[in-house]
Amino acid sequence: MKTLTLLGIESSCDDTAAAVVRQGDGPAQILSSVVLGQNALHQPFGGVVPEIAARAHAERLDGCVAQALAEAGLALHQLDAIAVTAGPGLIGGVISGVMLAKGICAATGLPLIGVNHLAGHALTPRLTDGARFPYLMLLVSGGHCQFLVVHGPQEFTRLGGTIDDAPGEAFDKTARLLGLPQPGGPAVQAQAAQGDASRFALPRPLLDRPGCDMSFSGLKTAILRARDGVVAEKSGLTRQDRADLCASFQAAVVDVLAEKTRRALQAYLADAPVAPLLAVAGGVAANTAIRAALQEVCAQADVAFLAPPLALCTDNAAMIAYAGIERFRLGQYDTMALAARPRWPLDQHSPSLLGSGKKGAKA
Ligand code: KG4
Ligand code: ZN
Repeated sequence: MKTLTLLGIESSCDDTAAAVVRQGDGPAQILSSVVLGQNALHQPFGGVVPEIAARAHAERLDGCVAQALAEAGLALHQLDAIAVTAGPGLIGGVISGVMLAKGICAATGLPLIGVNHLAGHALTPRLTDGARFPYLMLLVSGGHCQFLVVHGPQEFTRLGGTIDDAPGEAFDKTARLLGLPQPGGPAVQAQAAQGDASRFALPRPLLDRPGCDMSFSGLKTAILRARDGVVAEKSGLTRQDRADLCASFQAAVVDVLAEKTRRALQAYLADAPVAPLLAVAGGVAANTAIRAALQEVCAQADVAFLAPPLALCTDNAAMIAYAGIERFRLGQYDTMALAARPRWPLDQHSPSLLGSGKKGAKA
C-alpha cells in the first residue's frame, strides 16, 4: 500500500486541533497531534459560546498547524493531502478550518479532503487498533450520543441515539446544579464514588420503549427536583447529600447506557460479524463506572471491548487525518466547492435526530 502522510485539521467545537498521521502497509502512526482547548475562554459563560469559539479557532489555527508540522518534522510539500472537518459542528469554527485547508491546498496544489467529524470518531478504532469492519461504536461525549455500526470508511448504520441532550451535557449540568466544577463529568464521578446510588430514585428514560434511542434531558430535571427536595427539607446540602445525588445520577446513566448497549449489540450481532467488537469514543467514555458496565455487557455477549486512549476519544485532529487517509485510498477528494456543514448525519438513511445541544448541532 502506498505510504500516505496527511495533515488533519479540526475546529468543529471548542478544541482547535491539527495533527499529522502516516500510514503505509502497517498500522497508522501519529507523527504529531496538537489540541488547543478553549475551556478557560468559555468558563465564565457556563457553556461553549459559538462566536467566541469561532474567533479563537480563527486566531489559533495557523499556529496550531505550524506546531503540528514542526513536531512531525515535516514541511507542507512532504504531505500527500489535507484533511479537514467539514461538519457537523458549530458553523463558525467549521468555516475557519475549511478556509484554512482550502488556502493551504490552493497554495501547494495538495488534494483537499473534507471529513465528517463523526466519521473521525467512528474510525478511531482503526487508527489505534486496526479494528476490522464491521464493528459497533458507541459515541458518548458532551455533544454526541449514538450507536453506529461501522461497515466501511463511508458506510455507517445508526442504530439509535439521543433524542435530546448528550450524556456529557447531563453530567455538566448536574455538576453545575450541585456547585461542582466544570467539566462536570470527572467531578460527578469522584463524588459518586463516595455516595449511595439507591438513595434517590431517578428515572431511566426511554428504557420502557423498544430500540436504542436515549434521552438525558429529563434526568437533569430529576436531579434539580431531588436537590430542591433536600434543600427544602434541610435548607442546604451536606457533603453526603451531594455524593448521594451524584451516585444516583451516575447509576441512572449507567443503567440506560448498559441496557441500550445490550440492545444495540443484539442488532449488530444479528449480521454475524467475524470479529465482534464494541468500541467507545467521546469524553464520557472516560467514566470508570460506564466503562465497567459496558465491559460487563460485552463479556456477557462474548464481544470484544475497546476504549482507545482518552486523548483519541475526545476531539482531536489525528482522527480527522486518519479518516482522510481512508477517503484518500478510495480516491475521494473534494474541490474548492467543499462546504462547511452545521449538520451532517453519517447515516443518510436514518431519520435525523431532534435537538441541538450546547456544543452544537447533533447529527
Ligand atoms: O469528547 P469531549 O471531550 O468533548 C465534546 O463533547 O466535544 O467530551 C466532554 C464531555 C464533558 O461533558 C465532560 O463532562 C464529559 O465528557 N466527561 C465525563 C468524564 N470525563 C469527561 N463524563 C463522565 N465521567 C467522566 N469521567
Ligand atoms: Zn467530537
